[in-house]
This record gives sequence, C-alpha cells and structure tokens, in this order.
Amino acid sequence: MRVGILTAGGDCPGLNAAIRAGARYLLEHGHEPVGIARGYRGLAEGDCRRLEEPELSGILPAGGTILATTGYDPFDDPEGPERVRATLQAERLDAIVAIGGEHTMDVSRRLYEELGVGLVGVPTTIDNDVPGTDFSFGFDTAVQVASDAIDRLHTTGASHHRVMVLEVMGGETGWIAAFAGIAGGADGIVIPELELTVEELAGAISKRHERGKHFSIIVVAEGAELAFESGQRRTVQSSDDTDEYGYPRLGGIGHALATELEGRTGFEARVTALGHLQRGGTPTAHDRLLATRYGLHAAEMVLNGEYGRMAALQGTAMGSVPLSEVKGLKAVDPRYLEMARTFFG
Ligand code: F6P
Repeated sequence: MRVGILTAGGDCPGLNAAIRAGARYLLEHGHEPVGIARGYRGLAEGDCRRLEEPELSGILPAGGTILATTGYDPFDDPEGPERVRATLQAERLDAIVAIGGEHTMDVSRRLYEELGVGLVGVPTTIDNDVPGTDFSFGFDTAVQVASDAIDRLHTTGASHHRVMVLEVMGGETGWIAAFAGIAGGADGIVIPELELTVEELAGAISKRHERGKHFSIIVVAEGAELAFESGQRRTVQSSDDTDEYGYPRLGGIGHALATELEGRTGFEARVTALGHLQRGGTPTAHDRLLATRYGLHAAEMVLNGEYGRMAALQGTAMGSVPLSEVKGLKAVDPRYLEMARTFFG
C-alpha cells in the first residue's frame, strides 16, 4: 500500500515522533509511506515525497513537523476536492493518515464521507480539546513549559510581593491552565470552564496576603472571559482579525486581568504571556511515547482498513472512534475542576 501522511493545523511537540512511528511501521510491513507537505494544501497541490529511512532518522526529539503544516481546507476551495482526488490518483495513494486538531478531523471526516478517501485521523493539539480521546500529544509538553514558568514566577513574585499573572494558550478550553496551575501550585486559575468573578478572585488574593502570603500566582487561559459581579463579561483578543479557521485571534487577557486585580487588591501585578513557547521545542518523554503509540496505532488501523476513524487514547489503552463522533471541543474534565477547587480561590 502507498499511505500518505500529513500534518495539518497548528503544530505541536511530538508530530515528528508520530510521523516517524507511523512511517517506520509501514516500511517494516513492506508498505510505502508518502509524506504530504503542508497539510491538505500539499494534497491538493500534489506536493508529496516518499518517506525513506534517512529522513525519519533523528527526528524523534525534534519539535515542529518535517512535513510542515497549514490550515488549508479543500472544502473552502471550489476546486479543492477535485485537486485532492487528482493527487490521490496520480500518487496512487491508498490511504491517508491525517495528524491534526479538531478542524483537521472535520476535514478528514468529509474527505472520507464525501470522496471515499481511506482516512485515519490522529488527534494532536497542545490544547487537549479534541473530543473522543482522553489525551492528545503535545499537551504534556505545553503543561511542562507552563508549570516551569510558574516555578520561576514563584521566586520573583515572592521576592517583590507581587501578583504574577501567567497567560497560557488553550483556545476556548482551560486544560493547560488547569493542569499547569495544579502542577505548579498556582493560587488561582481563570478558565472558560470555571465560573469565577474578578471580584471573587481579587478577594481571595487579598485574604491570602492577609494570611501572610505576600505574593500570588494566577494562571489565565487566553480564551477565558473576565466575568464581573455586575454580570458584565469581557473577552480580550490580540486583534480584530480571525485566524485561517475563522476563530478569533486570542491573546492579551493577562494584561486586562492584571490591571483589574491590581486596582482591586492594591498589590502590584506583572504579566507573562507564554504564547508560542508552549508549542515549540522538543517534546517531553511522555509526549514522545504517546505520539509514538498514536503513530503506530494509526498505521495499524490503515493496514486493517479501519477507515473513517480517529486513533484515540481511552484510559491507558489505544483505541479508535468514528470521525463522525469527533465534533466540537472537549472541555476540561469536571474531575480536574473538582481538584482545582481545593486549591484555587
Ligand atoms: O490550537 C492551538 C493553539 O495553540 C491555541 O491555543 C491558540 O489559540 C492558537 O493555536 C494560536 O494559533 P496561531 O497563533 O498559530 O494561529
């Protein structure tokens, strides 16, 4: 079989580990892995190359993706589906392994259902918000970066008696903020899934300072809203533009929150926004292992003809779910929110 492998949407640590595992498995079983460059754009443009052993060597710890990535959607291009069909034929591709987030899974579902492409999806995103799987790879690395930042903010915040606000990614969900906040011992988190007013948070910080703790660390997810006692709600975007998927360009809520907290508590506040530092660089050992398991499982699914499905981590086991069930975003599991309530205001 000739099996195309592509990475689409936002990159994340572990993509190369997944490509390597899937391609090696196919090679070992006598099949031909074909790298498709720049996500679905490469599939529409016929930008494909055979993946051979030398290109797969040494990439396990490398961040980014050797295949490059875009958010191109063939269904937004009037000629897209036809161009995809032409490449599949010209390259004699029997199946595609598409590695990406929720939007990529949706495009993959349509290609499977509407064009009959033999598709297997692999969920990836630092946000951990793809439904149907417990964890996607890339998330652990982002949490590690954010909890390392919290450790560093602790010492400088404590030295200056400041409120340190850390803004993390997460799109419309608070997985990174919740996990890093718990792991790093933050004093408060502001995420879309938790109802908490700015006044309540400021009150908790003031109480903490009255108890003799002269600094606080607050983690805020970039997609969270600032909610006020009055019922007013405020979102913050880095610009009025939307990204290539039509989602708002997020970023900047950390500064808005810090200003509100400083005004209400009287404590000096400082902001750190981690941004793309959470997406770049080498994956943690956990993510390398998880990405490897995903890559191997996806290749196995292709060889078994299990198309129209997404590889999924179910508890500790690797399984799969139909792409038709991968819809919307997965909010933070309430069990983690319960844990978070024990520690945060
Ligand atoms: O989906 C991953 C993510 O990192 C989000 O948390 C973030 O909002 C978005 O991508 C930013 O993407 P970019 O800046 O690459 O368009």
